[in-house]
Amino acid sequence: MKICSLVGARPQFIKEALISAEVTKNHEWEHIVIHSGQHYDFKMSDIFFNELNIPNPAYNLGVGSGSHAEMTAAALTGVEQVLIKENPAGLIVYGDTNTTLAGALAAAKIDIPVIHVEAGIRQQPKSMPEEINRVLTDKLSTILCCCSDLSLSNLKKENIETNASVTGDIMYDLFMHMYPKFSPEKQCSEHGIQPQKFIVATIHRDFNTDNAAYLKGILEGLNELRRKTDLEIVFPIHPRTTKRIQEFGLTDLVDGLKILPPLGYVELMSLVCASSFVITDSGGLQKEAYYANRRAVVIMPDTGWRELIECGWNLLSPPNRDDIVLYGEKALRDCHKPNSLYGNGDAAKKIVKAVKEGIPV
Ligand code: UD1
Repeated sequence: MKICSLVGARPQFIKEALISAEVTKNHEWEHIVIHSGQHYDFKMSDIFFNELNIPNPAYNLGVGSGSHAEMTAAALTGVEQVLIKENPAGLIVYGDTNTTLAGALAAAKIDIPVIHVEAGIRQQPKSMPEEINRVLTDKLSTILCCCSDLSLSNLKKENIETNASVTGDIMYDLFMHMYPKFSPEKQCSEHGIQPQKFIVATIHRDFNTDNAAYLKGILEGLNELRRKTDLEIVFPIHPRTTKRIQEFGLTDLVDGLKILPPLGYVELMSLVCASSFVITDSGGLQKEAYYANRRAVVIMPDTGWRELIECGWNLLSPPNRDDIVLYGEKALRDCHKPNSLYGNGDAAKKIVKAVKEGIPV
């Protein structure tokens, strides 16, 4: 059986790594990886292939950056051509990016079953690009692999039930698999910081970066939190966030922060494990903080990972100085941590099993 996987943006390289490993281990399928090229800078793309030992993609569609429509359209055309040429038994798509939706749409229209990894996540507002991508991808998918019971119940509410199951989170598999490679102390000494004396912050969502008042409020919050708690702010920065800080004339507000380039997986996880807590608008990092026993202040109006908010471990904050300080101080307090919200670290196995059972050979 031949299966294609489509990746394109940072978190997808990470998710695909373990599916590739699982499939290769059992020599069960021919597995062809297609890279849309949505992320293309070395530190946004190649670094993950190198450190996670993922085979180079067989195709790179060179989609690059642009408006949502431009990116989705370019990926749609490119993926369709590859699918017609390869004629796989199924296409695996990951998460909620423009690449995900383009892949699902291209495959569904030529009758190639779509396997959606990280299905069933729902979040307000409905107009958020990622929410549009995930709702449509779920509708187009034949096999739906959910990270949690909540994701599966979201699908049931929309009457999407056939071939939907809880497989657990593949990012938890990867966290456990790579844990021996994390080196918190080494990373701290390389960056000149003390373990537990810093916060890891990442901000890249367009609704935070492209609104000058919000971006200013977030940076002011980080500065104020640093002043009040004496914790350093370690801020690996997405290329778009860098651009907006310059455009909006906010460079003074990053002088007191420890700015780093975008980091690879091992380096970022090592820092998270050594941190006091995390402030982020990244979907993946909210959960990875939990895997590392760290709380996260999530700067979003809502999150797809509501389990972590409902149990009080993660905290949602609006993008302004006072709330970020308020929730940052709360995140320093103790909190009961619930276990196994996202499976037991065997998601890759379960996803491969779901594909085998769901696709007639
Ligand atoms: C995308 C996903 C988001 C995911 C994130 C992971 C969509 C709609 N969003 O957001 O769900 O959390 O990836 O990182 O697909 N840029 C570069 N170099 C790169 C990539 C991007 O400079 O290699 C800059 C460009 O200015 C680009 C901007 O970053 O326009 C945004 O990139 P884009 O791929 O549109 O979305 P992300 O914010 O990365």
